[in-house]
Amino acid sequence: MKDIEISAATSVVVLTGAGISQESGLDTFRDAGGIWARYDIDDVATPEGFRRNPPLVHDFYNTQRREAAVALPNRAHVALAELEKAWPGRFLLVTQNIDGLHEKAGSKALVHMHGTLDGFLCEACGRRGSWTGEMSTASACPLCGRSGGLRPDIVWFGEMPYFMPEIYRALGEADLFLSIGTSGTVYPAADFVREARLAGAVTVELNLEASRKGRGLFDLEIEGKAGDCVPAFVKDLLESRLSL
Ligand code: NAD
Ligand code: APR
Repeated sequence: MKDIEISAATSVVVLTGAGISQESGLDTFRDAGGIWARYDIDDVATPEGFRRNPPLVHDFYNTQRREAAVALPNRAHVALAELEKAWPGRFLLVTQNIDGLHEKAGSKALVHMHGTLDGFLCEACGRRGSWTGEMSTASACPLCGRSGGLRPDIVWFGEMPYFMPEIYRALGEADLFLSIGTSGTVYPAADFVREARLAGAVTVELNLEASRKGRGLFDLEIEGKAGDCVPAFVKDLLESRLSL
């Protein structure tokens, strides 16, 4: 058993994945019938796929992913925004999600390691910026005016995720690490729990099913829907009722 003492010196890092948005009506990737059961990663989530067939990739984001624009945050997103507000120490929320639901719930200390749907990256001028609505091969870059080179500002397989120095710095100082709604299959995010453990953090997973049961990576594995178990966990944590 490890006790977590909450003070101005206590640092928490939270990692979230597609599972936290499932109750907002968004599909996960690897659950039954998930996005990668319907689409080939190589076609729609790699730079090579985009080079081969840009209209297909734009169509995937326009029809399958931009539905997130009308989704609403659920109780789990809201609980994390409340945790950040109430937390006396350092706090960082790292999300693999591109759906924008954490910011809609009010989270501020947030980094999008896999990018965001609300952004463009121009392959012609190399710059990025914010973007609303659908994107196509005819879309012109708001910064350089050229068309044909715009892509969603989303990190694809084989590319380097964003904010890695900030994330590893926070993990190296973490006292508490929470992993929520992620299958732990995509690196480097899958390895954050090991980094946090090396720093001496207490590690907790909140997921529908323990992602890596019996591997000794998490001090506590809470199984259930994020909308139920995240608010309950946050409440207990803030009332210092947790002995891990
Ligand atoms: P991995 O988990 O070891 O590494 C994936 C890399 O892509 C990581 O750097 C990850 O952070 C990054 N990434 C970028 N954008 C991502 C995004 N939107 N979603 C997820 N990860 C993103 O994965 P791996 O071993 O390379 O492959 C995992 C799966 O993807 C396998 O099923 C593999 O067949 C398939 N795949 C991988 C690549 C590749 O270039 N890595 C290419 C095609 C298919
Ligand atoms: N509450 C909590 N957990 C849930 C819920 C829910 N309501 N529904 C599903 N889950 C869990 C699943 O059990 C699974 O372990 O969420 C996890 C979702 O895992 P993935 O679909 O693999 O999603 P994620 O881990 O975010 O994927 C990582 O892969 O291709 C990419 O870009 C994609 O960033 C993503 C990355």
